[in-house]
Amino acid sequence: MKKALITGITGQDGAYLAKFLLEKGYKIYGIYRRLSTPNFWRLQYLDIFEKINLIPADLIDSASLIEAIKISEPEEVYHLAAQSFVGASFEQAIGTGEITGLGVTRVLEAIRQINPKIRFYQASTSELYGNGKTQGSFNEKDLFQPASPYAAAKLYGYWITRIYREGYGIFACNGILFNHESPLRGLEFVTRKISNSVAKISLGIEKELRLGNLEAKRDWGYAPEYVESMWLMLQQKEPDDYVIATNETHNVKEFCEKAFNIVGLDYKKYIKIDKRFLRPFDVNYLKGDYSNAEEKLGWEPKTKFNRLVEVMVKEDLNRWKRWQNGERFPWDAPNYPGESKILTRALRV
Ligand code: NAP
Ligand code: GDD
Repeated sequence: MKKALITGITGQDGAYLAKFLLEKGYKIYGIYRRLSTPNFWRLQYLDIFEKINLIPADLIDSASLIEAIKISEPEEVYHLAAQSFVGASFEQAIGTGEITGLGVTRVLEAIRQINPKIRFYQASTSELYGNGKTQGSFNEKDLFQPASPYAAAKLYGYWITRIYREGYGIFACNGILFNHESPLRGLEFVTRKISNSVAKISLGIEKELRLGNLEAKRDWGYAPEYVESMWLMLQQKEPDDYVIATNETHNVKEFCEKAFNIVGLDYKKYIKIDKRFLRPFDVNYLKGDYSNAEEKLGWEPKTKFNRLVEVMVKEDLNRWKRWQNGERFPWDAPNYPGESKILTRALRV
């Protein structure tokens, strides 16, 4: 049985990837950090909490990462953990550098020291391109021009991955993934903020939706499809870097229009511009050319913009209807699912 270690298993992509790899027959280990309120709701939502093994570790703590790799003895490490919110990176630029940037080296160094044959996936991002284009699509050869502390940290992560690949022969790949969304997306990201608010407004729970830059364009895909590309990258003969995208772009306003249309409302009546959600520096245009991934990995996106908005709005509507009927979400009343899968140090010695 193949073993994989996922950092960021409690996040959107980590949860979907764990499910995908379990279905492929992998034994799954994930690192999680101690929080004052347990955050396993995505793993519960996908009904996989009982099927995975959790190791306490943090990206700022090298020793805990070394331990996680020693315990799990993985063939593949998927490094997804990061301070992943661009907006927050302007408020916590140094912390973002520590976690999102240096965290990559801590994981790679643990691999190099313990078993350099482990294959490594780095969660790189379309944010690397910054404002390099106003039309056309970005591919693997385009110039990186990061426009946030988050993107600068990810640029470091991208290069350190290549340096460990070329310098130490580690099978290390960068997935340059464009935005990908789902009903498991964090609530502060714009797509889920919109779908969640549309559901609440249509049910009379909320009255307005406050947003920042409505003109920003993004290439939005569907997260469960994107995690497959991560696995495909690590199954190739040679390590490489790949753009994963839909090659379509839409602005935030179009997302709002479509989402409000689904519940029969006119978005213009509910949106308020709020300066708090404007960034000091924003990326205005992103569209990705995934033809290299299509040719080499046989990967292509299936869920495009209209369907994605529909899936997200319908799921949030369903959740809020259940809430109105008295059901509570795991994140409202944390339903700690038990500790049976947690491998603490005491258990390991
Ligand atoms: P996410 O939902 O924000 O998940 C981030 C994960 O990182 C969570 O599990 C979080 O743990 C963990 N984490 C944060 N700080 C940590 C630390 N100090 N030590 C250990 N774990 C830590 O992000 P996502 O959307 O799944 O994205 C996954 C990765 O892909 C990220 O690296 C992101 O930057 C990158 N990416 C995402 C997209 C996208 O559109 N989603 C596109 C390109 C690249 P907690 O649950 O404890 O907070
Ligand atoms: N979050 C947020 N909240 N964004 C808003 C809002 C708002 O109220 N109003 C407008 N926006 C605009 C942002 O300014 C940005 O231009 C766009 O919506 C998308 O913002 P996010 O959903 O926060 O995502 P992101 O593109 O900044 O970053 C995501 O995608 C990257 C890949 O390109 C994250 O998942 C990153 O981790 C990922 O690397």
